[in-house]
Amino acid sequence: MKRREFLGGAGAVGTMGLASGLSVPALLSGVSRAYAAGDDIPVGLLFSLTGAVAVVEHTLHDAALMAIEEINAAGGVHGKPLRAIIEDPASDPATYADRARRLMIRDKCVSVFGSYTSSSRQAVLPIAEQRNNLYWYPTLYEGRECSRNIMYGGAVPNQQQDILLPWLVKNFGKKFYMLGNNYVYPKEENNYCRILLNELGGEVVHEEYMPMGHSDFSSVINRIRAQQPDVIFSTLVGDSDVAFARQYHASELDPAKMPVVSLTRSEVEVRAIGGEAAAGHFSSAPYFMGHDTAENQRFVENYKSRFGGDQVTHFVSEAAYFQVYQFKAALEALDPANISPAAIRDAAVGMTMKAPQGEIEIDENLHTHLWPKVGQWQSDGQAKIILQSETRVVPAPYAAYPGQECTGKGLVKT
Ligand code: ACM
Repeated sequence: MKRREFLGGAGAVGTMGLASGLSVPALLSGVSRAYAAGDDIPVGLLFSLTGAVAVVEHTLHDAALMAIEEINAAGGVHGKPLRAIIEDPASDPATYADRARRLMIRDKCVSVFGSYTSSSRQAVLPIAEQRNNLYWYPTLYEGRECSRNIMYGGAVPNQQQDILLPWLVKNFGKKFYMLGNNYVYPKEENNYCRILLNELGGEVVHEEYMPMGHSDFSSVINRIRAQQPDVIFSTLVGDSDVAFARQYHASELDPAKMPVVSLTRSEVEVRAIGGEAAAGHFSSAPYFMGHDTAENQRFVENYKSRFGGDQVTHFVSEAAYFQVYQFKAALEALDPANISPAAIRDAAVGMTMKAPQGEIEIDENLHTHLWPKVGQWQSDGQAKIILQSETRVVPAPYAAYPGQECTGKGLVKT
């Protein structure tokens, strides 16, 4: 695979333009001018600043915006500033689709950065594919998707669970209680967890899904008490995770005997839960705020000085930040006369970058090679990293589906 460094020494990698000066996707989609032909480079930010997921998405918006501001302060790309066009889809999947269309067609954005939940990504996907545009999605998700128009910056199940499961079974035991919100992401993660648990001789003692935003966990806690699992395997998101964590703490169940192990809980949820209530439980993620790299120190310092000393960074805001730099590096590798979303995608494949979590790479399947870690939450709201992969891990979005593989040519079935 051809690899190019994101930062420093990136040679100009020209792409052949058409004689008309129009890019292929511009011709196909009827757009009458080349992308980024003006004095600036328009990019969409599609994160909810209002509604149920704003609590997480506003931090993704902030991190992406900060990267844009940093890039512009350093002179922009090809001498042009990035121009952020901000839309608030108000936590509603249909509005994500509508605003994505607006950003890609009316505003001629060369890329759109956005969203947290899989439901919102799935709402944008057909628009990005129809327009042959690029949607940079920073969030961990369930895999089983292989679009050529989505840049997947977050972990897929093998990147969160492969190091986690053997460690959990060894240290806590084989009886798992699965608890998640009722949508595609928790169900697919649990499907993969069952496969690994079977291999490890473990068992699922209970599996249940609560409506999005559900906040009364008294009967769940009664069932947990009755079942006495070794691990509570959680894919609750947002407000539900916060409510469950607080009620678990109030119930005086003991995290040392029956920890909640989450694939979604980050510093931002822990801040809402409170450090005392979160302490002792675990999360699996490629990034924690306390990770010791020069890139992370700079990211955290810049974030706090831009948004306030009490703010936190987390594994999804880290990806929202590094994806803007991946986009910049891909733009820099192109002939400025021939910028298009498809050319940006092709230039980005194989690039490596020193991100706050460690050196990452964009796979030919448009997912990202990441550094899995397991952290234990402390009462100060930070995670102590207790397990870390020795190598960056290749994304396998179809790991739970033998005979299917996401490749540089899309989904291949054997
Ligand atoms: C998610 O819905 N991808 C967390």
